[in-house]
Amino acid sequence: QFEGRTSVWRYSAALPFEEGVTLPEGGTPLHRVPRLEEEVGVRNLRIKHEGMNPTGSFKDRGMTVGVRVAQELGVDRLACASTGNTSAALAAYGGRAGLETLVLLPAGKVAAGKIAQAALHGARILEVDGNFDACLDRVQDLADRGEAYLLNSLNPFRLEGQKTIGLEILEEFRDDEGRFPDRIVLPVGNAGNTAALYKCFRELVAGGDLAPGDVPKLTGVQAEGAAPMVEAIREGREETRRWEEVETIATAIRIGNPVNAPKALPGIRETGGTAVAVSDDEITDAQRSLAAEGVGVEPASAASVAGLRKLRESGEVDAGEDVVCLTTGHLLKDPDAAAAAGSDPQPVPNDTDAILRHLAGQSVG
Ligand code: F0G
Repeated sequence: QFEGRTSVWRYSAALPFEEGVTLPEGGTPLHRVPRLEEEVGVRNLRIKHEGMNPTGSFKDRGMTVGVRVAQELGVDRLACASTGNTSAALAAYGGRAGLETLVLLPAGKVAAGKIAQAALHGARILEVDGNFDACLDRVQDLADRGEAYLLNSLNPFRLEGQKTIGLEILEEFRDDEGRFPDRIVLPVGNAGNTAALYKCFRELVAGGDLAPGDVPKLTGVQAEGAAPMVEAIREGREETRRWEEVETIATAIRIGNPVNAPKALPGIRETGGTAVAVSDDEITDAQRSLAAEGVGVEPASAASVAGLRKLRESGEVDAGEDVVCLTTGHLLKDPDAAAAAGSDPQPVPNDTDAILRHLAGQSVG
């Protein structure tokens, strides 16, 4: 019955329409990473690589639904604030739909690949003198004044599409005994994805399709320099405190006021999950470990693996667990971070013997 549908729209029964503005999205790989699994020390470790979506991040799953809704509503200008990936997805899907797109970015804090995408897909790009949270305040004002249709994750239709990450994981992941994963570890910025996964699992349980005991523990990871969700979990609060100063190499999650926190915090608590903060060095180490096994991700994505490593070291995650880490964006999104984390090119003369001497460890002269 799903013939010809893309992976997100295969799940149209869980979505507001039968079809969307599609490129197509979803159907991302669930990689095995045996060396990392061994090193981290869990029973099963899989990487759901959302960077393999059409514009290179999980945002495409939400945008295919959100832009379809915008078409239905007949709006003429779509807008978002973004740390980069949402703007790339909005520009591509908005362009596909033939609609005008406007993106507000924190000046100087968006990775090169993402700006390039927004630019080429034809968005009007405004660089705001302020961080992401300020950009979101401004774009909400524009939406309130009727100047644009908001396509940040405050828009519930975005989250409907992102639920399909959870559906795909449950369909694809089975361990040797047919069990669902014990835990899903994901990077958290605005906490939209965490909220979407929680909604996915609640709906499955309500429909009798998933036993309450089989719901994976939602485990959020933030950068130490932008960790209001971790703070709220630690202090047992229902809402986050807004961090005015935020900084991290993982610019995608450089966010101090996660607007979906009221939906995501209960998801972390009620599934028995937790939240943890990781340093920029830990993020870069995890990015290298993933890359060594062929999985290229941007820094924010590597935070999931860095967080899992940390929770294993502290014993909060058990060695017997089956774990899925979400990697949310592709390595090429942030080429500068990737180049800095990797090895430097070595200049050699245009001469085979000199190259062989160089490889043998001698001076090239
Ligand atoms: N990972 C990546 C690569 C992201 O781009 C984002 C969010 C997240 C994780 C966090 O997801 O907000 O649902 O908790 N990026 C947004 C953007 C903010 O504008 O692209 P979340």
